[in-house]
Amino acid sequence: MSAAPEEVDDSPYCCCSAATFMEILERQRAEPLPFMELLMVHAGCGGGCGSCIDELEAYLRQHDAYIED
Ligand code: FES
Repeated sequence: MSAAPEEVDDSPYCCCSAATFMEILERQRAEPLPFMELLMVHAGCGGGCGSCIDELEAYLRQHDAYIED
């Protein structure tokens, strides 16, 4: 699933996931997972550097897509 054409994806980019936060958010909306699982399944943060985990958590909370572990 990709962003609507008129929607500009200016969300932060996670190198470890090779995806923007918005792309991770879309995966989360398609298949909601608790945060720790999300980091392994929807994002590469779990096996990556981990530097954007706090920022990603805040982003998901802002978009009502954060699920407590
Ligand atoms: S850049 Fe996102 S976890 Fe490394």
